[in-house]
Amino acid sequence: MNIFLTGASGLVGAVFARAAARRGHRVTGVVGTYAGELDGVAAKRTVDLTDEAATSAAVLDAFPDAIVNCAAVSVPEQCELDPARAQVLNVALPQTLARLAHHVSARFIHLSSEQVFDGTRMTPYQAGDATSPINLYARQKVESERAVHAAAPEFATTVRAPLLMGDSPGGKRSLHERLLADWAAGRTPRLYTDEFRQPCTADNLAEVMVELCERRDLRGVMHWAGTELISRHALGVRLRERFKLTEEQAPITAVTRAETPDAARKRQACLALDISPLAGKLKTRPQNVAEQVEGLKVPPPVRDWYLGLAKC
Ligand SMILES: NC(=O)c1ccc[n+]([C@@H]2O[C@H](COP(=O)([O-])OP(=O)(O)OC[C@H]3O[C@@H](n4cnc5c(N)ncnc54)[C@H](OP(=O)(O)O)[C@@H]3O)[C@@H](O)[C@H]2O)c1
Repeated sequence: MNIFLTGASGLVGAVFARAAARRGHRVTGVVGTYAGELDGVAAKRTVDLTDEAATSAAVLDAFPDAIVNCAAVSVPEQCELDPARAQVLNVALPQTLARLAHHVSARFIHLSSEQVFDGTRMTPYQAGDATSPINLYARQKVESERAVHAAAPEFATTVRAPLLMGDSPGGKRSLHERLLADWAAGRTPRLYTDEFRQPCTADNLAEVMVELCERRDLRGVMHWAGTELISRHALGVRLRERFKLTEEQAPITAVTRAETPDAARKRQACLALDISPLAGKLKTRPQNVAEQVEGLKVPPPVRDWYLGLAKC
């Protein structure tokens, strides 16, 4: 299968390219600013995806069997800093890609987020539950879902993903990479004891997305995540243990939502997803937290610091 991948240099896109190549697919991977090599990408294209004409030309040139959209402004705080750019990348881009998928009869896989829900309940959200976004990023994700499925109802699948772990191309994107960077710089991260997520790895999500490219019968909005709900603080402790660091080497300050005035307004307390409808149809298995943390690597930016600790 010929796959057109946006966000090939991102946390998910980079591992998707590798997973798709392992399954024998040919990936045309679009990057924005990333200059390095990307395993699994047969043809790398640098395209500004805010340019609709350039995006359309790149898709039509590739004439793909599947379009996979991993490009986005994926950090909520960055959406608030530049809402107009975020609107283009998070809403207009997926809509354009969905229209193009419809035009060339290609499968379309789009990524949305657990954050489409307000997180005020402890029980898992179903894919059909009413959305209730509480920040700009989440509102844009809801808007993108509607635009995508209106434009390409017969071709599109949206996966709502949870907090993602994994090794990113630049080594600075994911949770363990940011925690290790804090510890290396002598900072003490503050992690919530009462904010719960159901994380999975980008690798595991990528396997799901490859399967979805191959399964035209699975359309609509679906949920994927890991098997465990865990607080951000507990996850930080598990990551500290994974890298065999002591509390002195890797301190964490435990905080509660009540201590942070903005938390209730912009952050969801608990985001649990019911993944059973999709899990029941796929070969890829969801992972528990132990399985997720065991494969994580020390990222290049902090490798010297980490190796230095071992010598002490
Ligand atoms: N990470 C998470 O925890 C998480 C959780 C739930 C859902 N999601 C969703 O999953 C998807 C993938 O997220 P991610 O974490 O992999 O994202 P990411 O690591 O932030 O990567 C974003 C990608 O978008 C590309 N991009 C941004 N602006 C561009 C532009 N103007 N032109 C071309 N490319 C551009 C970047 O390319 P360059 O770097 O080359 O510029 C990069 O490849 C997103 O839809 C995100 O909302 C992520």
